[in-house]
Amino acid sequence: MEVLHTTIFLAILVIASNPCRTSHNPVERARSLLYELVRAIPSPGVGFVTNHTGPLVRLEEGVASGVWSRDLEDTIMGLARSSETVAWLKGVRRRIHEYPELAFEEARTSELIRGELDRLGIEYEYPLALTGIRAMVGSGGPPFVALRADMDALPVQEAVEWEHKSKVPGRMHACGHDAHVAMLVGAAKILKNRERFLKGTVVLLFQPAEEAGNGAKRMMADSALKDVEAIFALHVSHEHPTGVIGSRPGPLLAGCGFFRATFGGDESRCVNPILVASAAVISLQGLVSREANPIDSQVVSVTSVNSAYDNGDVMPQGVILGGTLRAFSNSSFYQLMQRIKEVIVEQAAVFRCKGKVNFFENESTIYPPTVNHEHMYEHVRKVAVDLVGQDRFRVVPPMMGAEDFSFYSEAIPAAFFYIGIRNESLGSTHTGHSPHFMIDEDVLPIGAAAHAAIAERYLIEFG
Ligand SMILES: *[C@@H]1O[C@H](CO)[C@@H](O)[C@H](O)[C@H]1NC(C)=O
Ligand SMILES: *[C@@H]1O[C@H](CO)[C@@H](O)[C@H](O)[C@H]1NC(C)=O
Ligand SMILES: *[C@@H]1O[C@H](CO)[C@@H](O)[C@H](O)[C@H]1NC(C)=O
Ligand SMILES: *[C@@H]1O[C@H](CO)[C@@H](O)[C@H](O)[C@H]1NC(C)=O
Ligand SMILES: [Zn+2]
Ligand SMILES: [Zn+2]
Repeated sequence: MEVLHTTIFLAILVIASNPCRTSHNPVERARSLLYELVRAIPSPGVGFVTNHTGPLVRLEEGVASGVWSRDLEDTIMGLARSSETVAWLKGVRRRIHEYPELAFEEARTSELIRGELDRLGIEYEYPLALTGIRAMVGSGGPPFVALRADMDALPVQEAVEWEHKSKVPGRMHACGHDAHVAMLVGAAKILKNRERFLKGTVVLLFQPAEEAGNGAKRMMADSALKDVEAIFALHVSHEHPTGVIGSRPGPLLAGCGFFRATFGGDESRCVNPILVASAAVISLQGLVSREANPIDSQVVSVTSVNSAYDNGDVMPQGVILGGTLRAFSNSSFYQLMQRIKEVIVEQAAVFRCKGKVNFFENESTIYPPTVNHEHMYEHVRKVAVDLVGQDRFRVVPPMMGAEDFSFYSEAIPAAFFYIGIRNESLGSTHTGHSPHFMIDEDVLPIGAAAHAAIAERYLIEFG
């Protein structure tokens, strides 16, 4: 039992915060490792040819557009890149960066956004999910297309020394959600400017609690997606040079869940819960190695074993296993949960012991996989190629990270994409959640334009 003895330690996983998202825990380290592995796979550039069909009309101010053209995209980029707009975008982002707020506490951020929307003359509903906002620009009628930005920060102490460093100790926008908000407010301004041309309505969703707490789910419960037929969102990425856009059709980010299995304990006595738990660990290991399709990546890892006794001379009454699961397709994710449950319960039964498993569904620790709808992905690709050029669009590999955008993508056609912030000379090369994380602010107008162009073109081409 020497080996077993060394594995039995009181690893209390941080269940209250979200194990899928918190750094500094073994699960996160495993995720980072996988992430690095996936990152090591070169992302192929793609040789898509832009095909502008239909008449190319030069759009003057006041000329209505019925057909999408590259000129229209240039017009949108021009609006985003005006020096006044760029200065304003940076100001919005910096004001948010200085006062980071954690999940469901984004009161100040939300107030700032509403202030900007008021100044732009944009109407909105508030609050959704405590601090969330649902703004609308356009005709007020169908079709409705949504753009989403997340607002929350992280419990990280900023290590970057600069003028607009976080003024709140132990809080930092280390995932770039401050930039996401600024870009969406920027899109609101561009779309408002073009409101009379919009062939429907753009719904702008400012969402709390992406990092922990399933803010997206709460937004949906508060009717964020009412009438909405498609939704898009972006995330800044240190993997791509500033302004490079990347995405992929189908599974993009893994589903992530956490489980706690209990053998014996208060309610039922197990003769040897250590043996039962050990057998369960081996069987859980077999789920991925024996049952999963090797080209459909899945992970099940037992990350903690806890017997509550450590004096070595008595058999504990119960053993608790903690673990995590990841999968890229909806069916394999839910199938994996089902199989974990079966293994825990049945394996315990073999030893005439009782096994129970909790997936903490109610504590918002489950993130389904983020799956891009083929047509919505293709829409993003076309807009990106026209906006930033075909050499600045990349098809990216799937990643083991998780995103609560997946709740929207489960409900309606959706696409999620990355926008690069990497600039070696600025030093914006650190991963999200790092205290050294920083962005190249030149991304802000590009992200704002990408959002606006995706929405306006959607209304033209899918309306
Ligand atoms: C562009 O698309 C049209 C219609 O789908 C097609 O007929 C044409 O061959 C395409 N042109 C190029 C250069 O691919
Ligand atoms: C989760 O919440 C639902 C509804 O509130 C309840 O029916 C269910 O028993 C809860 N599940 C757990 C594991 O607590
Ligand atoms: C994924 O599976 C869950 C549970 O079976 C289901 O509620 C959800 O609608 C599914 N989503 C998609 C996109 O199939
Ligand atoms: C990096 O940032 C500097 C300063 O803003 C800029 O001059 C340079 O062009 C940027 N490089 C890239 C690759 O974007
Ligand atoms: Zn994050
Ligand atoms: Zn994030």
